[in-house]
Amino acid sequence: MITIYYLVDKATEYAHLAVAADKKGDYEKAIRYYRAAIDLFHKYLKLYPDNSMSDFYRGLIKKYVARVRVLEKHLARVSARGGNGSSSSDEVEVIDCGRRSSGPRFKDLVDLEDVKKALKRAVIYPVKTPELYPLGWPRGILLFGPPGCGKTLVSMALANEINAVMINISPATIMSKWLGEAEKNVARVFKKAREIAGNGRPAIIFIDEVDALFQEYSDEVGGEKRVRNQFLMEMDGLKAKEDDKLPLFVIGATNKPWKLDIGFIRRFDKRIYVKPPDREVRKQLFKHYVGKLSTTYDVSRVDYDKLAEATENYSPDDIFKIVKEVQSNLAEEYHEKGGDKRVLTTEDFLEVIKRRKPSIDPQYIEAYRVWNDKYGAD
Ligand SMILES: Nc1ncnc2c1ncn2[C@@H]1O[C@H](COP(=O)(O)OP(=O)(O)O)[C@@H](O)[C@H]1O
Ligand SMILES: [Mg+2]
Repeated sequence: MITIYYLVDKATEYAHLAVAADKKGDYEKAIRYYRAAIDLFHKYLKLYPDNSMSDFYRGLIKKYVARVRVLEKHLARVSARGGNGSSSSDEVEVIDCGRRSSGPRFKDLVDLEDVKKALKRAVIYPVKTPELYPLGWPRGILLFGPPGCGKTLVSMALANEINAVMINISPATIMSKWLGEAEKNVARVFKKAREIAGNGRPAIIFIDEVDALFQEYSDEVGGEKRVRNQFLMEMDGLKAKEDDKLPLFVIGATNKPWKLDIGFIRRFDKRIYVKPPDREVRKQLFKHYVGKLSTTYDVSRVDYDKLAEATENYSPDDIFKIVKEVQSNLAEEYHEKGGDKRVLTTEDFLEVIKRRKPSIDPQYIEAYRVWNDKYGAD
């Protein structure tokens, strides 16, 4: 999965930039780069929590977080003394999925058929045949639903489907200690995206955990409002005549859609529910992941119906982790007890499931359904 390694490449690159800026005494820039590195390492760890390098990256994150804290304290002291903190960085960082082409695609994701269909209608077809849309097409797409059900993954896959450049907006990328800088960063992101799209390459501005984005600025006097208003203004700008044929999209993802206010919700024309898997889909998910073990083990005796039955309220992410846990158990057994690689049983999985709580809270399911009835639009 080369895109994943690209996350690490990019994170490492940011880390180098951070250290360089840190050495030069450009602490504001250093903080931004550290945060960007942290953000990407987190993304990597979310996708690959137990790769051989994952613990190493966790250590790096800790180190960078500590350094950011030190620098922020330092800057706060300087600014209290009236220092000026003009930012020298006007670069917006982009993740270019196209340069490395083997990242996740729609076909690699189990089910989510409704979501894929909605994204084809909203994004892929307009990008492929803009001439069929004299009335324009949607700009803002919100994906909502419980954690671990594929919102981030399907967004990445979408970018790969259309060979888009993906620009992440996260607190890390637009955060600034300096009054007024954060909203300028928002403006920069949109400017960059327009440039890219203006040259004919699709651009996706991706905002993961969009409900949390503006809260980051609530410490700053009026900061939350200003960043938010800038964002809304930029979204509205995309509908302007000169921009309305650009292959440019803003995709937001959230586990807590009810935290978004109506002004914000309205900017997203499409609001798509990324549902938790039902029993049939859970069966497919187990087949998908257990199937990958079949290169090493005999999996022919696993009863997928039983596994699906036993995993109500478990997310695709949970299911992936369950299968990985079984993999670890088998490897351990092989090393500790010796002997041949044995046949996998349904019980191997049920054991792990018993010890692991589902991560979807059934109480929330009703809340998503209600929100979807009220605001859903696909
Ligand atoms: N449809 C799916 N098919 C296969 N694996 C999935 C699917 N959805 C989620 N996963 C697994 O769960 C992990 C977390 O998904 P993610 O997209 O980060 O969820 P969300 O953004 O909704 O919290 C993915 O990295 C992947 O391993
Ligand atoms: Mg996510």
